[in-house]
Amino acid sequence: MAIIVLSNREPYAPRTGPDGHVHWVASIGGLTTALDPVMQREGGTWIAWAETHPEIRTVHLPEAQPRYRVERITLSSDDVRLSYHGFSNGALWPMSHYFLERAQYRREEWDAYRRVNETFAQAALDCAEDGDMFWVHDYQLALVPGLIRRARPDARIGFFWHIPWPAQDVFRTLPWDRELLDGLLGADLIGMHTPAYTRHFLEACARTLGTETDVGTVRVGERTVQVEARPIGIDVATFEALAANPVTVDRAQRLRDNLRTLMLLCVDRLDYSKGIPERLAAFSSFLERHTAARGRVTLVQVAVPSRERAPAYQQLRTQVEGLVGRINGQFSQDGWTPVHYLYRGLDREELVAHYRAADAMLVTPLRDGLNLVAKEFAASSQDGVLLLSRFAGAADELPGAVEVNPYDVDGLSATLVRALRMPLEEKKARLDQMRQALRQSDLRAWTADFLRDLAGKAALPSELL
Ligand code: UDP
Ligand code: G6P
Repeated sequence: MAIIVLSNREPYAPRTGPDGHVHWVASIGGLTTALDPVMQREGGTWIAWAETHPEIRTVHLPEAQPRYRVERITLSSDDVRLSYHGFSNGALWPMSHYFLERAQYRREEWDAYRRVNETFAQAALDCAEDGDMFWVHDYQLALVPGLIRRARPDARIGFFWHIPWPAQDVFRTLPWDRELLDGLLGADLIGMHTPAYTRHFLEACARTLGTETDVGTVRVGERTVQVEARPIGIDVATFEALAANPVTVDRAQRLRDNLRTLMLLCVDRLDYSKGIPERLAAFSSFLERHTAARGRVTLVQVAVPSRERAPAYQQLRTQVEGLVGRINGQFSQDGWTPVHYLYRGLDREELVAHYRAADAMLVTPLRDGLNLVAKEFAASSQDGVLLLSRFAGAADELPGAVEVNPYDVDGLSATLVRALRMPLEEKKARLDQMRQALRQSDLRAWTADFLRDLAGKAALPSELL
């Protein structure tokens, strides 16, 4: 029995290096960073979209020590435009994150989305052997469970929805709400990040489809679909070890030496759900009010390029870079630049060095399915404070964080003062509390629980547990 994972984004993207050879670089985003270690441990096949280098159909990854196979799917440029940029990121993403004013529902895009989901389902069916388990991921592939179920009524199908599931009044704006739910309910087990998303989903099934729902289950004909809150964990020990590694400690020290001030860290894909302009406004208001902080506190914003072809993301970049320029223009003095802005992704080692160097980490999305960055910081920091939006799924699990409301710019600015003045004992106690919670539900437990429940305890070979 093997695992077949399906996601739109591939775990590593091919890049042609200066030597003319193709190298595989880790993709950045919660889904792929969570699932890559799972697949490295379990082995199996990962089916994903080949955004570039479509001529490479199959590859074994990671490059240095191959552990699993990736089957790469080619999509026409029209389907990419209409399904990925259109329906997935122009309708489902904004709707699920409560940005209804940005959501556009177009029939042509929905049709392309269905086509793309059929392509993925067919690819999975083509490479599956009897007894294989299908594990489908995220909003780009919501119809795949239903399509696989139709072809293989006895298949074991799991689904994980990585983003928020919105309240029913928001979800019902989707013209194809029934079809989307029908597709998802092809799965045996559906995972979400929080109890609230799960409740919303069950309510959607009851109200939209009229299905019988009970605590954590939906009845579909003869089948019972299990729906549960199972937030993705992180590998706490790996982050702790990397943060304590002398190379990281040295890198973190160099970062601090270069700044020569306190460091506020922000790490996000450049996405409008992440609340970056609001946070910059709060930092500006903080510098305005607390003149003593000028020259003594620097905000480091790592903005990972994301969905760069989409106008909404291009506009956000212009807006964020304008704000950074304005703050730096207004407050810079004597060799101090208040905002250090990096428009690129960091590799794991650099990222953990930043986590370790930071005095406070600001994770302030307007809405976020979970936010792994918050968990990674909590596992890596020695004496930093985590400011965490109440609208991030991870807030449910990290009571040691200082909760913030990203819409309250003045409140955020005041919380910054509190964070920077927090006594060392309190900082350490909060980090300890978060680490304990993270250890109890780490990535290994998340994977084992999901796969065990999907397979049914008796059927799963012990090496997968
Ligand atoms: N990440 C990274 N380098 C960066 C920024 C982020 O490797 O420069 C990783 C980070 O470690 C995390 C993931 O990307 O695992 C982001 O996941 P998160 O859930 O925070 O947000 P998403 O991008 O999925 O919305
Ligand atoms: C979020 C989504 C993922 C997605 C990632 C990066 O984490 O939940 O499904 O892969 O963002 O976005 P992208 O559009 O580049 O795949």
